[in-house]
Amino acid sequence: MLIFRKVNDLQSWVRTEKADGKSIGFVPTMGALHTGHISLISTSQQDNEITVCSIFVNPTQFNDPKDLEKYPRTLEADTIMLADAKCDLLFFPSVEEIYPPDLKEIEVDLQGLDTMMEGAHRPGHFKGVVQVVHRLLDIVKPDHLYMGQKDFQQFSIIAHMINELKMPVKLNVCPILRESNMLAQSSRNERLSPEGRERAGKIYNTISRATLLRMKHTPAEVCKILFEELNHEPFQPEYVEIVDQNNLTSVNDWNDKCVICIAVWLEGIRLIDNIIL
Ligand code: PAJ
Repeated sequence: MLIFRKVNDLQSWVRTEKADGKSIGFVPTMGALHTGHISLISTSQQDNEITVCSIFVNPTQFNDPKDLEKYPRTLEADTIMLADAKCDLLFFPSVEEIYPPDLKEIEVDLQGLDTMMEGAHRPGHFKGVVQVVHRLLDIVKPDHLYMGQKDFQQFSIIAHMINELKMPVKLNVCPILRESNMLAQSSRNERLSPEGRERAGKIYNTISRATLLRMKHTPAEVCKILFEELNHEPFQPEYVEIVDQNNLTSVNDWNDKCVICIAVWLEGIRLIDNIIL
């Protein structure tokens, strides 16, 4: 596997591969890789001749500097995982490479997609995500971009950005990889105690009950019931929302576009999950 730290090196390599008619798949990450990330790499490999993964802990998407400092950096283990997965190229740029002083900040009207759920609890977060994904796409110029359904609001916002700016890339959304108790894979799971990690299966179990409850209750009632069900030690739910997949606004009536999204605190760790209903 090739490893590049410089934009110029990456670009001249990708240019040559593209000139040979190869299609490029791109998986942006912040590292601390787990099998969920690797599933995106595998999907990209099925669709493309070349798969590029980036590892960049993006400072502009952290609203709390302590979170940025605490974010796990496990480059050695990540490199081994990517090499084992036969990823073709790892792009591991410095902050200066991604944000040179003359870089223009990208303006996209997110039409409120960034104001609810994660956006309401993490001000400025999605502006930072848009900025970095736009910059990475501009550098790598992939044919296909791979993102996880795990971060539902994130991929929705990136889909909107690609559409608004008419960027020549196709977004592919990959299913959520889960542990055996159905807890969504996340680098944060490592920070739970073994007992907490086991009990965290309750998050998926709770939101999956929406499929039954919808027969007798409105979306708002289901959110309230499930919030209360989970609102016991050691869990502290932050929100349970049923929204329209297209515009992420709360739905009043059931339709075939509903997704249930949740954020929960457990042992001081914030976990998110969602299910398309
Ligand atoms: P990161 O949290 O490293 O996630 C990188 C990608 O992996 C995201 O698209 C995320 O949705 C996906 N992913 C995470 N857990 C997953 C799981 N259990 N199953 C399937 N896919 C999963 O998300 C980011 O980084 C950053 O915000 C980024 C987009 C790289 C911009 O900085």
